[in-house]
Amino acid sequence: MPDTPVTMPRERTDPFDPPAELSRLRDQDALHRLSYPDGHVGWLVTQHSLVRTVMSDPRFSARAELRRLPVRRPSADLVVGKPAPPGMFIMLDPPDHTHYRRMLTGQFTVRKMQLLEPRVTRIVEDHLDAMAASGGPVDLVQAFALPVPSLVICELLGVPYTDREEFQGYSATLASLATTAEEGTAAMEGLFGYLRDLIDRKRSAPADDLISDLIAAGELNEEELVNISAMMLIAGHETTANMLSLGTFTLLTHPEQRAAMLAGQAEVNNAVEELLRYLTIIQYGTVRTALEDVELAGRTIRAGDGLTLALPVANRDPDRFDNAHEFDVTRPATGHLAFGHGVHQCIGQQLARVEMRIAFAALFTRFPTLRLDAEPSQIPLRDDMNIYGVHRLPVAW
Ligand code: HEM
Repeated sequence: MPDTPVTMPRERTDPFDPPAELSRLRDQDALHRLSYPDGHVGWLVTQHSLVRTVMSDPRFSARAELRRLPVRRPSADLVVGKPAPPGMFIMLDPPDHTHYRRMLTGQFTVRKMQLLEPRVTRIVEDHLDAMAASGGPVDLVQAFALPVPSLVICELLGVPYTDREEFQGYSATLASLATTAEEGTAAMEGLFGYLRDLIDRKRSAPADDLISDLIAAGELNEEELVNISAMMLIAGHETTANMLSLGTFTLLTHPEQRAAMLAGQAEVNNAVEELLRYLTIIQYGTVRTALEDVELAGRTIRAGDGLTLALPVANRDPDRFDNAHEFDVTRPATGHLAFGHGVHQCIGQQLARVEMRIAFAALFTRFPTLRLDAEPSQIPLRDDMNIYGVHRLPVAW
């Protein structure tokens, strides 16, 4: 019954598929009542076209103080339920959102990202050289999937990569569902303190990087600079890193798809879109809150109701994609919602695409015999994290 509230399905039976229960709910109805861990009863939006509708309708807010999360994450209590820290525009609505986002869009154009390609290629090749020199086996997460995007976002922002242990630790703590509120506060304070010092140093010694550019533009105060930098640093490496490791796991277990991907650059580019669609790593989706009563798919959403947009199953919607459940690198995969939709659509998507296109092609070209060095069932999955993926990926060649 669509009106009996469900809880957010979490149990996966296949490492690459969303929870079967979530797919079943999508096939049953586009909209379900959803019980939130705080007792609120809101909505679960499961089908592609309805998710798009919600994401492009300004009556559904992304504001932090109105948010409810479908899966409890104690560390998120630090930011959810209170006004967003100044500058964190992912949790703001227009016009505040627009005010901040426009300061950054110029830094992430397709053209700017293309200019980064040689540098990304160098970083990728350096890590593959180190892997080759080690002789293997290696954990691909530590040897490749995490350091490549981490180094790229560090260079772009102007964060010294030598400090990575510090901020990667904070970032991992904040992403874990198991992190307590105290641990989350400590990680957040640690990250903010680290960035505050860095911004101070950049004020006196600016360089050719995004944080220095934001300082030079003179529009942001210290707190806004710290918050925007923190948001970019976290969003910029956890996501792409998990796409690289889970994507490699997928390609290693689908050899015919891997071969099809390697036919040429256009095929690689399409395979990246298909991996984004098929894996949709923002596993609990994104959330919105109704600002007023809204009629949606024949139901009345009341002002204050929370909505959870189930991106992983929206991207497997048979009404939008033929054979939606199959991983097929030759399909037209564009139009997926892995980067969201509407005003909050991922600002870093071109960067993520450049990194994935270069990384997957180079990895499998350099190591044509790359294979898992464990049974697929032994690969530890990130069921316990907000962003899905694998904790480790042992590979040999
Ligand atoms: C927004 C996914 C990479 C920075 C988003 C949203 C999604 C997403 C689904 C929309 C959130 C919402 O509507 O509430 C991904 C995935 C990535 C990726 C799957 C990698 C494959 C990146 C990178 C950066 C980044 C590399 C930074 C350079 C951001 C920011 C926002 C955002 C700042 C907020 C945009 C706004 O509110 O206007 N991302 N992202 N992301 N992403 Fe990404």
